[in-house]
Parts: sequence; C-alpha cells; structure tokens
Amino acid sequence: MKAAEAPFRLADYAPPAFDITHVDLDFRLDRTETRVLARLSIRPRGTATVLELVGDELVLAGLSLDGAPLAADAFTATPSLLTVRAVPDRPFLLEIETVIDPSANTKLMGLYRSTGAYCTQCEAEGFRRITYFLDRPDVLSVYTTRIEALKSEAPLLLANGNPGAHGDIPGSGRHFAVWHDPFPKPSYLFALVAGDLGAVKDSFTTMSGRKVDLAIYCEHGKEARCLYAMDALKRSMRWDETAFGREYDLDVFNIVAVSDFNMGAMENKGLNIFNDKYVLADPNTATDVDYANVEGVIAHEYFHNWTGNRITCRDWFQLCLKEGLTVFRDQEFSSDMRSRAVKRIADVRTLQARQFPEDGGPLAHPVRPEIYHEISNFYTPTVYEKGAEVVRMLQTILGEDGFRRGMDLYFNRHDGDAATIEDFLACFAEATGEDLTQFSLWYSQAGTPQVAARGEFDARHRRYRLTLAQSIPATPGQPVKRPMQIPVRFGLIGPNGEDLDFASVSGARVDGDVIHLTAASQTVTFEGVSTRPVPSLLRGFSAPVRLAIDASAEDLLFQVRADRDPFNRWQAAQTLAMRSLVAGASATAEGRNGAAEPALIDALGAVLDDEKLEPAFRAQVLQIPSEADIAREIGENVDPDAVAASRKRLRLAIVSSLGPRLLAVHTALGAEQSYSPDAGNAGVRALRNAVLDLMVASGSRAAVGAAVWQFETADNMTDRLAALAALCHAALPERLSALHTFHEAYRSDPLVLDKWLTLEASVPAPETLDRVKALLAHPSFAASNPNRVRALVGGFASLNQAQFNRADGAGYDFVADFVLDLDRRNPQTAARLLVAFRSWRSMEPVRRAAAEAALRRIASAPKLSPDTLDIVTRTLA
Ligand code: PHE
Ligand code: ZN
Repeated sequence: MKAAEAPFRLADYAPPAFDITHVDLDFRLDRTETRVLARLSIRPRGTATVLELVGDELVLAGLSLDGAPLAADAFTATPSLLTVRAVPDRPFLLEIETVIDPSANTKLMGLYRSTGAYCTQCEAEGFRRITYFLDRPDVLSVYTTRIEALKSEAPLLLANGNPGAHGDIPGSGRHFAVWHDPFPKPSYLFALVAGDLGAVKDSFTTMSGRKVDLAIYCEHGKEARCLYAMDALKRSMRWDETAFGREYDLDVFNIVAVSDFNMGAMENKGLNIFNDKYVLADPNTATDVDYANVEGVIAHEYFHNWTGNRITCRDWFQLCLKEGLTVFRDQEFSSDMRSRAVKRIADVRTLQARQFPEDGGPLAHPVRPEIYHEISNFYTPTVYEKGAEVVRMLQTILGEDGFRRGMDLYFNRHDGDAATIEDFLACFAEATGEDLTQFSLWYSQAGTPQVAARGEFDARHRRYRLTLAQSIPATPGQPVKRPMQIPVRFGLIGPNGEDLDFASVSGARVDGDVIHLTAASQTVTFEGVSTRPVPSLLRGFSAPVRLAIDASAEDLLFQVRADRDPFNRWQAAQTLAMRSLVAGASATAEGRNGAAEPALIDALGAVLDDEKLEPAFRAQVLQIPSEADIAREIGENVDPDAVAASRKRLRLAIVSSLGPRLLAVHTALGAEQSYSPDAGNAGVRALRNAVLDLMVASGSRAAVGAAVWQFETADNMTDRLAALAALCHAALPERLSALHTFHEAYRSDPLVLDKWLTLEASVPAPETLDRVKALLAHPSFAASNPNRVRALVGGFASLNQAQFNRADGAGYDFVADFVLDLDRRNPQTAARLLVAFRSWRSMEPVRRAAAEAALRRIASAPKLSPDTLDIVTRTLA
C-alpha cells in the first residue's frame, strides 16, 4: 500500500497570502487541445514574495507578469504547481496560458465533454485542472469569461453571470461570447458550457419587480422533459422570497442537463449544471419519486445562490455550512409543496439508511470534519443529511421566529463572505440570546447518540417521571464524548388519544413541547398528570439519535392508532416491525421459525383501513424496514441470509393475515384518472403499489397476474416500474420476460435503462451476480458513465444485501475488481462505490473475513488514486 500524503487539518487554516480580485478567462475551445488564457489581477495581502498556484495535470504554454514574459529562472511549473519567485509587493497582473484536453478527461472534473458538449465541474478542486490558481474557497474574485468555439459545433456558449458581447469571428467558422459575473466568487463556482443543445425558456419576476430570463438546456429532443424542472425552478424562486426573503440577483438563470456527472448537480453561479437524471421528467419515463427528486434538487441548487454562493465557505472543513443548511432549506421547500409528514418520514428513512451506518462505522466523521486526505470523499450523508438535522434542531430549539431572525442576521452580516460554522452560530446566539456552546458539539462530535428513556407513573401523586439518558459511541479519533444538547419533542398521550396536561415540570428545561436534554442523564418530573400516559418521544424526529424505550407492544399499537404526531405513528409501527424482524432473524439463525407480532398486524391493518389518513402516509407504514435496516439494528455478527429470510417471512405473515383487506384497498384505489405527478396522486399510486408489492411477495397466482397486467397496461412509469419491481423483488420467473420487454421498450433511453439495470441487480437470487457480470458487457451499460455504474454496480452493492454479502465472498470480489478497474479512469466514482463496504465489520466471521480480504486486495493494488486510497484505508482502520 502506498503511503498517503499528509492530511489537511482545520487547525492549520491560514488565510491566503494573496487576493485575486479579478479573473479574466479566455477559452479557445477544441475537443483535444483547448487553450485557456487566464489573466489574474493579484494583490499581495502581506509581505510574501513567492506565489504558489496549484494545478492538476496541467501543461503550461505561456506565462507573463504585467505584460512581460517571465524568464525561465523566475518560475517553475509542474503539472500540479506553478511557483513564481519574486513577485512584486504591489498589485500585478499574471497571465497564464494552459493547454488541456477535454476529450481525455474521464475524471469528469475540470473541463470535459458530455452530451456532445463542453462542460465543467469545479467543486471542490476542479478549477486547478483548467488553470493554475489559488483554488480555495476563501479567494473570491470577479470573473469575466470569453468563450470561443466553432459555431457549427457549439452554437451555444454559456458561462457564469450576465451575458455580454458576442459575435462571429469572420472567416474562421468560429464565434465568441463574453459573460461577466459581478458577484465575487470562489473558483469552485466557475462554470462554462458550450455545445449544441435544446432549450426551454421562461421568465420570473422577482419580488422587487426585476425580470429574470430562465432557461434549461438539454439534449435536442428532450425539451418537453424539462418543463417540470422549469416549474419547480419558478416555485423555488418564489419560495425563497416568501420563506427567507431571498431574491435572485442576476439577469439570467441557466440550467444545463448533462448525462455524465459524478454527483447530483452543481450550483455554479447563474449556471447550474445538472446530472440529467435530476432534470428530465415526463410521465412515461420518470416515476413519482423521480419527480420529487427533480423538484428537490432543482430547489437545492437554486437555494445555494444564497447559502453557498453569496455566502460561501472559508475552507472545505466548513462544507456543511452550505450543504447542511441548503438540504434543510430544500427539505422545507418540499414539505411546503407536498405533505410535510410524509416528507419527514422519507427524509428520516434516508438519514437512517445512509447516515446512521456511516456514523456507526469506520467512515464516521463529525458534521464538520477536522481532518481529511481527499475532500471529494466528504460529500457525505453526515455533512449533508446530518448537517440538515443540526440546522433543524437549531430551529426546534430557537423556535421558528428566533430561527428566522438568526438567518436574517446571517444573510445581512455575511453576504459576500467566506464564512465558518462559528460565524453561523454566532448569528443565532446574537439574534436570540441563546447560549449555543453545548449545541455546537453537534458539529464536532461524530457518532449517533443513543437516548434511553424510561417512564414511571405514580398514580397516588399524579406524577410522571421520565428518565432520559444519553450516550455517544466512540468513533475514529474520538474515544470519549461529552453530553450534547438534545431537543426531545414530546407528548404524554392519554387514554383517549389527546395529549395530557400537566401542572408543572422540573428536572430539565422544557419549552412548550420540547425537553432539552443536556446532561448524561436527567429525570424530568411532571406533576398533575391524571392517568398513566403513553409517552410519545422524539416527535417529528426532533434529533438525529437512536431512541431506546422499552414500550410494550400494546403501547406501540396504541401510538400507531392514536399519536397525534404522524411521524411517531409511523415510527411506532416501524418499531413493532423491527422487533419481529430482529427476533425472526435470530430464530432463523438458530433454526427456529419466528412468529409475527400480533400487535404489528393489528397496527398495519388499522393504518391500511384508515381512510382519513393520507394514502402516501399509509404506504410508508406498509413499507417495513429493509434488510439493511434490520442488519444495522442487529449491529454485529449479522447473517444476511437470516435477515432476508426473516423479512420475507414477516411479509408473508402480513399478507396471510391482511390479504383480503390488502386486496380491497388495491381494488378501491384502482380506478384512476390520467396521470399527474402531484403529491396527492402520487400518494395513491404509492399505496396501491406498496400493497401490490406485499401481495406479490406471497407468490399468489392472482397477485402475480395483477402485477403482470399492471406492467403491461400501465400508462405511466411509476406503475409500470412498480409492477416490474414487485416481480423482481420476489425473484419470480415472470420477471424474465417483463425485464426483456422493458429493455426493448426503452432501449434508446439511458435514464430508463438505469432503472432496468438496478432491478436486474436487485433480484434476490444466487444467479444475480453472474447476470450483473454479464451486464457489464451489455451495450446498454457504459463504465464511463457514473449513472450506469451506480445503477448496476451500486444497485447490486446497496440494494441486494444477501447477494453482495454472499458467504463465498464473490459479491465482494466483484465489487472490488470493478472499483480497481474504474479507479484508473474515474477515482471519485470508484471511491464512492467502495463505501458499500462500510459495514463489513458487523458481518458474521466468514463474511467478515471475505470482505477484509477484498479490501486488503484493493489497499495493496499499485497506483491507487488518493480518493480510493483514502476510503480503503479508513475502512480497514
Ligand atoms: N455542491 C453540489 C450540491 O450539493 C454537490 C457537488 C459536489 C457536485 C461536488 C459536484 C461536485 O449541490
Ligand atoms: Zn448542495
């Protein structure tokens, strides 16, 4: 294994020695030999006389200072560093010419080609692949970009900011366009797009009456699939005005959809670039979930204009300053557009499925990390999703008004700054008078806190005592932790379902319905409680913790029926299911047959039949924990086959108890008008398809027939795919011809074929691994495209627990081989795939040994990228 470079540490932060006030870029685009002339207006901040600019795989073609070419002994240039000795101690102009090859750029960082166009990706450290620069987020510059290209190849020329001069270059077949962005920004927000693309155009009038031209660009022929994204954009712009008082600031806002993209999307100033998966949607190719994702990601990138762009990060350790906050904002937007309760359940599911395992494994890190080797590996669920939870807790603690006052102060005080988490928290402390010292531990302590709760009712004294104890597990580099401030939203439910009143409370600060747990253990005493309550704790998932409470099955069932907090109704049903599932898995491992908890069946039945509940909510309740959820709950010595068997058995038990009622709901919801992607309609489909999935799991002829019929006759992708998924998840033979039909029908639509690849990879059957290997050579697969890779290999590793974690280690070996191969071309995507191994230590010994062998093989491979080296090293540590 090669030695890693020295890490970066938050404690080592030092401001840059130079400012770059203006960046004037001139691109002469060419598929294999693009020339970039960068004119940098540089101003020394102190007395430094040596200027070091970073590069990455760059070729220097020219260098001059204040108009005079630099002598060979005045500088040194390597592909990754340009050192200029003896620069003046006053402002000067440095002109750098570099030559780059966009066609050879398979890392998809810097300038590359996708969708037949030139495009860029600069966050976090891609700008240094375009020119030598102080490529760090605390260097803010005003950019002017001139792009020149063959007009036939690239009629469209886009960059950040507002459009300026443009025209033809006579006699050359080439043309140019100039863009100017008046808002100082860090280099990671730079972007350029040039190509021949289709467009949808619209406009938006801001709250102060300014008209903004909007456009979304995509591959020709796909324009109609951009209309929903355009609508989501306009709704996002309006929402940020009403919810946060934030107005858009440029004359134009452009979005470009490209098909090769390492991540979801990118918030470049005035020129967002998207993975086309998060732009394109129509009823025939996108599911309801896709529509919701498009809406959320469009909003997320738009909201970055204030939280990320106008106020950016001082350094990459502060990444959550923009990401956690912006995820919080997009979650709030979607909650306002759809059902708040259902959105919350979906977000918590994602948090528990993606962030909890990270926090509980070798890759655990604080929301604000303090050390990293490779920053691109820190775009994690912890920074994003847990980061959003931390902002949400702030809102819970301060109340909506206090939170809004803090946000207003933050926007006013830090507009134009590269800020830190301390700056952010100081605004809330100042605006509300709240001491956030203990709260700030949420940013520095990794690990998911466990909160154990115990209640005791004293009927004689009409007194209820609730003891809450927190503990935070050790994580890499953090063996001991301090108690945190945990806001526990609560209610004491009385026998008729109403929250009980109490006369007084002591033992903790309690504001309204929030208990502030601040010590390792606290007993909260409620006086004047008339009858024994059922405690409803952590309502709305008020803190990202694991709550352990030894509630009886009876109390949980009561909560499912009566809790006025919909999140906790869902949570209580999940808890009941999880108990059955965990017991079932150990029963299987011991060769016994577990039994379904009768209270669970009652709970599911009650929700299924309750027509006052939103269909989308009922669908969420019917979806019992996944195999990965169960494995995480078991935590150690996991046998994925036993887990899968337990889950399958419980689903069969549910169908055998609720069969006729499931069928009744399915039939009642069957008659449907024409497709509309709105939340209400989507909820009906979600419920109907959740029911179908359960019924098909039983393998009954009628259910399978219904699925096949739905697959063949559905007029929208949601229903078609749900039927196909049900056949695949139950590994039924009927899936084979349906999968074939599906592929034939969408053979020219890569985004739809991604769904097909994922379903192929998720079939819980031993032959799946060979099928996945064969698909690597299928014409519909391309290892150069991150979406295809994530659909097939990522889908296999994350959605097919029993087959990825095969006892013979073949699943691990396959993914390891693929990662090693991909690492040579696209290290970021390779490293992200490798994260699938993060829970290897919780497996039973045979699998654990097989996983470790695969990881060690990766670690000892020659020429690993820094990205993959970082993940494999931490995963094995
Ligand atoms: N900043 C992007 C977002 O969250 C994510 C991203 C990171 C995209 C790095 C590309 C590269 O909105
Ligand atoms: Zn973001």
